[in-house]
Amino acid sequence: MSIIKLLEKKVKRTLFTTPTHSQHNIFNEKYTNFYEDDYSEIEGFDNLSNPKNAIMMAQGRASEIIGSKQTFFITQGATTALLSAMKTIIKPADKVLVARNCHKSVYNGLILTAGIIDWFMPETDKEWGIYTKIDPKKLDSTLQLDDYKVFIMTSPTYVGVNSDIEEIAKICRKNKTYLIVDEAHGSLYNFNDKIGKSAISQGADVSINSLHKSAGGLNQCAILNISKNLRDFDESDFQNSINLFHTSSPSYPLLANIEACFNYLTSKKGQEEVNILLSEIDKLKKELTRYGIEFFECDYHDPTKILLRKKGLSGFDLSESMFSEFDIEDELNNSISCLYLTGIGTARQKLEKLKQALKKVKINPSYEFQPVDFQPHPLVKMQPIEAFNRNYIYTDKSDSLLKISGATIPPRNWNIILRRSNSKMAFRLS
Ligand SMILES: Cc1ncc(COP(=O)(O)O)c(C=O)c1O
Repeated sequence: MSIIKLLEKKVKRTLFTTPTHSQHNIFNEKYTNFYEDDYSEIEGFDNLSNPKNAIMMAQGRASEIIGSKQTFFITQGATTALLSAMKTIIKPADKVLVARNCHKSVYNGLILTAGIIDWFMPETDKEWGIYTKIDPKKLDSTLQLDDYKVFIMTSPTYVGVNSDIEEIAKICRKNKTYLIVDEAHGSLYNFNDKIGKSAISQGADVSINSLHKSAGGLNQCAILNISKNLRDFDESDFQNSINLFHTSSPSYPLLANIEACFNYLTSKKGQEEVNILLSEIDKLKKELTRYGIEFFECDYHDPTKILLRKKGLSGFDLSESMFSEFDIEDELNNSISCLYLTGIGTARQKLEKLKQALKKVKINPSYEFQPVDFQPHPLVKMQPIEAFNRNYIYTDKSDSLLKISGATIPPRNWNIILRRSNSKMAFRLS
């Protein structure tokens, strides 16, 4: 089917995925006409690669709200923001410590920067089959083992676990290591600290937010924030790196969407919406616990990320039943749980639909949850840049044991790959 036909068909399913705006113009501004508002750097307009006018003012206002030294607007997602941050700080052969649950754009950033990687394993929750927080003490002892230029981590995690960034930032500073926090899923923290505390406010050197993930923005709207306390690098270093990766024709409708996101989320209406969302989620959880649904909770958990399981069903089967019987799509699932993402744009009716479906979905009372297979701390046999540049062969996944993958296979997709795909994977020749 053509892309045009695909969009014309309109998705009728109830989506608990990104983007959370539920395909509605939440911010209620007029810039959604992509043709009418599609300009380049014409006279009187601004230039994202060297802003001096409207973009500079909007970025300045965003930076004031966040409390950053500088906030950059990015119209190519957190991916480009992460690559730019990494390119600024990491020089070839710099040692980089990376939390193993980072997004693949961080892995790609290592290829582009030629940094020398060591992995850092986050804590895990075996009962739920998920990575959780970064242990500050373990981080401190690891940083003392080598001269790490930067530590890159994700907080909140996909499922909403926040690490203690304040403590981690202190440890990084003590060890003279820069701290980049991928806060793609925590954009709302910049506006409402009932959900979580922003990484910049807790002392991270750099943070990255995807506004489309929970803040109601359009896909690809993201920001890169640098801290007032960042040493050695200034705004122009970051601007130069952004200009390496960013298109020279950024979309004005997307730039306006980023500005509108800030306007909305700092407005009384925007703040009320966040409070309503939190109280609706709270009600949903209270009611569903009476129907055998368990919710993941921990210290500093972001409540907008609803991770749940139902006794008597694997996460895979729950996901499948919700999809096929109730037209509800989750963001992520494993053998135990399913993740339903909410955010700005998740209306009460949507949560009601989720609630009713979860009550009705049928179970097998004798079923017991099967543990999730966690990967061990990986040995670095080859640096990402070398693996990327090598020749590769295609082999069946049954023959893949101990081979070095030529493609990035994010752990969260591993089960899906094993379940749904019989395709061959590419492996580097070592
Ligand atoms: C933790 C994390 N970081 C970064 C990204 C990349 O974000 P974007 O899609 O805005 O490029 C994602 C996307 O899923 C993510 O989950």
